[in-house]
Amino acid sequence: MEKEKLKALLDDMSLKEKADQMLQLMGAFYQEDKEGILTGPARDMGVGEEDIQLAGSILGTYGAGKLKKLQKEYMEKQPHHIPMLFMMDVIHGMKTVFPMPLAQGAAFDPELSEKCAAAAAKEAAVSGLHVTFSPMVDLVRDARWGRVMESTGEDPYLNSRLAQAQVKGFQGEDMGAPYKVCSCIKHFAAYGGAQAGRDYNTVELCEHTLRDFYLPSYKAGIDAGAGMVMTSFNTVNGIPASTNKWLMRDVLRKEMGFDGVLISDFSAILETVAHGHSKDEADAARKALEAGVDIDMMTSVYSANLCKLVEEGVVDEALIDEGVMRILELKNRLGLFENPYKDADEEEEKTVILCKEHRNLAREAAGKSFVLLKNEGILPAAPGKKTAFIGPYTDNKEIISSWAILGDVASCVTIKEAAEKVFDPGLTTFCSGSPVLSERELKGLVGFGPGKPVSVSEEEQEKLLQEAVEAAKEVELVIMPLGEHYLQSGEATSRGMIDLPEAQVRLLREVAKVNENIAVVLFTGRPLDLREVSRIARSVLVVWLPGTEGGAAAVDVLTGKVNPSGKLPMSFPYCTGQIPVHYNAYSTGRPDNVGEVRFRSKYIDIPNEPLYPFGYGLSYTKFEISPVKLSGGVVTDEKAVTASVTVKNTGERAGTEVVQLYLQDIAASVVRPVKELKGFVKAELEAGEEKEITFVIDEPMLRFLRADGTVGSEEGEFNLFIGNSSDTDNQAKFRYES
Ligand code: BGC
Repeated sequence: MEKEKLKALLDDMSLKEKADQMLQLMGAFYQEDKEGILTGPARDMGVGEEDIQLAGSILGTYGAGKLKKLQKEYMEKQPHHIPMLFMMDVIHGMKTVFPMPLAQGAAFDPELSEKCAAAAAKEAAVSGLHVTFSPMVDLVRDARWGRVMESTGEDPYLNSRLAQAQVKGFQGEDMGAPYKVCSCIKHFAAYGGAQAGRDYNTVELCEHTLRDFYLPSYKAGIDAGAGMVMTSFNTVNGIPASTNKWLMRDVLRKEMGFDGVLISDFSAILETVAHGHSKDEADAARKALEAGVDIDMMTSVYSANLCKLVEEGVVDEALIDEGVMRILELKNRLGLFENPYKDADEEEEKTVILCKEHRNLAREAAGKSFVLLKNEGILPAAPGKKTAFIGPYTDNKEIISSWAILGDVASCVTIKEAAEKVFDPGLTTFCSGSPVLSERELKGLVGFGPGKPVSVSEEEQEKLLQEAVEAAKEVELVIMPLGEHYLQSGEATSRGMIDLPEAQVRLLREVAKVNENIAVVLFTGRPLDLREVSRIARSVLVVWLPGTEGGAAAVDVLTGKVNPSGKLPMSFPYCTGQIPVHYNAYSTGRPDNVGEVRFRSKYIDIPNEPLYPFGYGLSYTKFEISPVKLSGGVVTDEKAVTASVTVKNTGERAGTEVVQLYLQDIAASVVRPVKELKGFVKAELEAGEEKEITFVIDEPMLRFLRADGTVGSEEGEFNLFIGNSSDTDNQAKFRYES
């Protein structure tokens, strides 16, 4: 539809009709059994039948047949026959589930993430969906926060590259094209900075930290064309994001140039009352509208108050028109005025969902996301050797994360299912050895949904343990698939202690008493405290929550069919007390390698360094990286410098190394991080092969928020590092002269 027609449509809409375009309800409001529903959420929320009929979008319902019917019925009743938008959290896949976002961070592979997002978009689109609430691009530094699994990690550059890639995958060049959906960047802003890792908690960041670390990934997603942005629950500089006019109008809209639809997070506008920022719901509605929030997710704050506020002269109707116009424009970009069903297709649902192509991609992506933390030569496993698989993830299909809400658990491949195809049945045994969680730990998950884990009696636990110990005695190699329960990460799953569940620690200790050749395969939604696991096991492979083909990919890597190449996108702390720990910390005046030992910035009981740093990960082969060669010593505004290294595969099998470039601005008007990732290249090398890897260093790379509040570079010396982890000391120096 042309712009003038949209404008004419808007002009013809009643105030009530417009206000309800800004209301989003859950699919439950539109089920056949309205009577039942109206006594439930609708009554509690204060939305009436009219609002339900006029709401501009719904979330959380999918299925081609269901959504086509709903759209048809809705449009017949909508006074201007405006189509409705269908939105859902399709985060790391729909029915076919790809590795969780933090795992995709570990793959350091934007192209791969783009493909995963495109496959997810296709499954979502044929199921009738128009928008996905993804990607989450919140920078994370605190492994206690359960939502770190939804992020791609602690680095602004890596997060930005992956934000861009995912938006491109979901939307393509044109979100109205077949099999594409609108992408919604979330949660604006800095939701990952929750104090002490407690979900929904206060965020306290100075503007330098906010701008240098937290904002770049949102900007990257917006520059890639994301059609929507979601507000965050937290405060930013003391004001809840959803009513934060400076954040939304000045930063998001003006500075970042975002002109799409801004949606609140689930009931986040209403929550500004509990925050103590809005005095009541009407006040919250006014503030959110003035901040430019276009859709109120799942509360009646807008639908019950906006008309009244206009009639009383408290808010200007033009603000409502502005928001509704953006919503109509989004519907138009998706082509819904011409075809309100877009790609919804019952027949295609059958062929696209969980198709071979998507499953293959899920397997490839999972294999590329695994990180080998330690290996004393016991991996890859030789299928001809006597091997025992011992651990609760040996034959467990719950490997898709709590944000894979539509994921098909039954279709997941377990390690046992995959291993049975490769390992010699006469030489291989499988047992769980323990439940994922002990009775005590299960109590912490009370109230969680249908996937609630079943408890195992103490007697049964003893039996499982004994069986495991017996199995371990017999074999040359013990592979232990262990890890967090998938309900221990995701929303509202903050943990005060990030250890492996206790029943599994006991299992590991007991098995180690009879067999020291242990390779741990770690399923987890977050970095864990792995001190004991790393001490006991001779090999540790992190497989995260790997998705539908997780077991198959794990066996690919365990047997060496796929050589691990993942790198940590987030530091694994030495212990919880070290959090937040991240490689790109600001320099201090008393670093731990200078001056009198006692008075340094350090702990007296633990090291400063994480157990495993950002960017770290091993391979089954070895790589050598040469000293850095610079094409010149001075970067200017006109002249870039190149920095190169030669990477050689000195081992005996082909492998992939992620070569990483870091910079440090040695002295600046504000203190700069000790290192910042500025580039990476994945080098695929045959055994014995070498390649030259070159990075271009130019002025834009050197910019930051300066002391005077402007963004730009400053003259002076820089350290440059190229290596295969953030702890590299392969260094060179250059100057920047303006
Ligand atoms: C989450 C969002 C999500 C929304 C809709 C909220 O609780 O914070 O990330 O998109 O629910 O499901």
